Amino acid sequence: MIYLDNAATTLVKPPQVIDAVVKAMGTMGNCSRGTHEEALSAARVVYSARERIAKLFNCPRADHVVFTANSTEALNIAISGIIGEGDEAVSTDLEHNSVLRPLYRLEAERNVKLSFAAADRQGNIDYAQLASLITPKTRAVVCTHASNLTGNMLDIARIAKLAHQNGAIMIVDASQSAGCIPIDMQAMGIDVLCFTGHKGLMGPQGTGGLCIMNGIEIRPFKVGGSGVQSYSRTQPEEYPTRLEAGTLNGHGIAGLNAAVRFILDTGVEAIHAHEQKLMRRFYEGVKDIPAVTVYGDFSRDRAAIVALNIADYDSGEISDALSEEYGIATRPGAHCAPRMHIALGTREQGAVRFSFAYYNTEADVDAAIRAVKELAQ
Ligand code: ALA
Repeated sequence: MIYLDNAATTLVKPPQVIDAVVKAMGTMGNCSRGTHEEALSAARVVYSARERIAKLFNCPRADHVVFTANSTEALNIAISGIIGEGDEAVSTDLEHNSVLRPLYRLEAERNVKLSFAAADRQGNIDYAQLASLITPKTRAVVCTHASNLTGNMLDIARIAKLAHQNGAIMIVDASQSAGCIPIDMQAMGIDVLCFTGHKGLMGPQGTGGLCIMNGIEIRPFKVGGSGVQSYSRTQPEEYPTRLEAGTLNGHGIAGLNAAVRFILDTGVEAIHAHEQKLMRRFYEGVKDIPAVTVYGDFSRDRAAIVALNIADYDSGEISDALSEEYGIATRPGAHCAPRMHIALGTREQGAVRFSFAYYNTEADVDAAIRAVKELAQ
């Protein structure tokens, strides 16, 4: 099987990740819930993961790295904990439902006014139009670093500057970039970075989190056990406890810790360069095949994703054929990105998404090119 569905989850993980999870499952007590050796060992592993993630994203404080189950949970916490009754928020057509649905819920239930930068047929936004939407009334700008459908990246530093000029908070969905595209929160002006652990970071599913800049206040989404201040009726104020009620996914975080160590040792730039090479080889191999339509903008830096269709075949049929006849795993359909598909004109057909990761090879890419050629014929 050739696995090219890494934008959904990376299948192949560094062996150290698996070893760390197995070890944690036999040794780990409950982090911040006692002082015996097993509880302390859990606390050490979790804090080490916070430190490594802070280093990876240049988040100024390790205790401002908060763990969640995935980026959807992180985005729900950030969006509902920052944007309140009657506020205004700005986003884009590139977003995944993990951004859109929390925003739509605030619109329906909290009278929040939303506006979206429109994407064109290439999946790009017009930054002047986006600038016109951000005003001193904007509480937050929420946008993805890279589209999970086209792979197009947004210029986060440029958008953050517009947000900050208007006193708005910059919340970024790094689901498709964390671990495989360089992210520097401080240089890019990101106030809250939401990430998942199981895609580019190559950690276990069920891990993710938020990195929060100094001075950004987020209301807790859930409250409950924190291991400290047990007689207080409210959740402790301090990060990360403020946003981490309940036992953490310590076993998963142990795996994530090993994954981030691997990424820091390998270098995000090296990972990005390898994935770019594979993605561009695939793009060059398929873009001129008659009947193939490729979506997105390949003229600049981007995530390692290529979405395409063959004539007017349903994307599900093509993805099934790739899987059953060629053993190639891709993702068809709507990809939880409704506004992006509408902008591309692929609402009915969907698209077949090929997404590449660190452990893919040129041989994987060449097999996928051959398969697309044969299916197109
Ligand atoms: N959000 C993931 C994707 O794009 C699951 O496939």
